[in-house]
Amino acid sequence: MKPASILPDDWHSQGDIAVTALPLFDISADGFSLRTAQASDAQACRMLLPAVNAEASYVVAVDGRHGLVVGAAAVTAACRQWPVPGPGAMLHVIPPCRRFGIGSALCSALLAAVRRQGMGAIYAARRSLDEGEETLGWRRLGFTPCETVQEHQLPLDKFVPRLAPVIESCRRLGRIPPEARIVPLYAADREQVLQLHLDHLGGERDSLAQRISGRGPGAFHPRYSRVLYVGEQLVGCLLAHRESSTVASVDANIVIPEFRNGWANLWLKLEATQGALALGITYFHFTSFDHYEDTRSFTAKLGGVVTKTMVLMHRRLT
Ligand SMILES: CC(C)(COP(=O)(O)OP(=O)(O)OC[C@H]1O[C@@H](n2cnc3c(N)ncnc32)[C@H](O)[C@@H]1OP(=O)(O)O)[C@@H](O)C(=O)NCCC(=O)NCCS
Repeated sequence: MKPASILPDDWHSQGDIAVTALPLFDISADGFSLRTAQASDAQACRMLLPAVNAEASYVVAVDGRHGLVVGAAAVTAACRQWPVPGPGAMLHVIPPCRRFGIGSALCSALLAAVRRQGMGAIYAARRSLDEGEETLGWRRLGFTPCETVQEHQLPLDKFVPRLAPVIESCRRLGRIPPEARIVPLYAADREQVLQLHLDHLGGERDSLAQRISGRGPGAFHPRYSRVLYVGEQLVGCLLAHRESSTVASVDANIVIPEFRNGWANLWLKLEATQGALALGITYFHFTSFDHYEDTRSFTAKLGGVVTKTMVLMHRRLT
């Protein structure tokens, strides 16, 4: 195979354009070796794995002729617990050195490290686009999806005619307690809404508090974000922010367990939709996870489309 060239070695100037003398890599002839990253590899690791933080453990691949870093892999200090405990990982091999077994060797080194720590899997450190290049890369290294996250776009005009009769009939049948009421976010107790979010979806307290107060990037809209009370009890909320003049993004849709699978969420959605339509919003964008089966089928029935599917790739130790 023809040796490929890459990576700055020494720089010289040609006019006002900086050009590099590039080293030649011929991994098939010169081979490569792996080692734990040293302090001098920090810059290469940052360049190859920009999404990984400094607390991770790094392994680098070095070419046999120049001793240059041509690939890197890292496992994060933080671990996921589900479906089996394991750290996050990232891998990168520079393009001219791909398909010579470096990626597989780096991956084996990560798997061995994780096995020594007594954990059961490695997860990609971030979700990647389904069928995208990154996901393909993980697949080539034996990874499979363990979680799917979809982004949906839902036209609001279909919502009201479908939902309003359902809520009306729930009311007639006495399913909705008379003391239940839905208020716009601006009229709700902000501290309670914040606590509901933290308890059920987590999040960062200060930035959430800001968004609930209608301030900062992604501020929740005070009118079409809605909050459900039954008597004095806060039972659910739907929080959305304006993405454009016609699109709102639903960031949080929470109903406490005692009120799930019934009228509560449908009514919240209906009220938020009516509020949004009144302000010129025609579409909702929102995200669903694997366990949101109901949301996915409900969305499809109302003419929603999936605009993006992201997967979390993982590889279990056998
Ligand atoms: C994914 C990546 C790390 C693989 O590195 P690599 O050095 O090419 O890996 P290997 O040479 O060990 O190849 C691994 C397997 O994928 C196959 N493969 C690699 N590139 C391929 C390609 N373009 N087309 C088809 N198969 C390919 C290899 O044949 C090999 O299969 P085998 O084990 O059955 O022989 C590299 O492509 C990369 O850095 N991609 C960009 C970064 C990235 O997406 N990282 C996240 C995913 S790891």
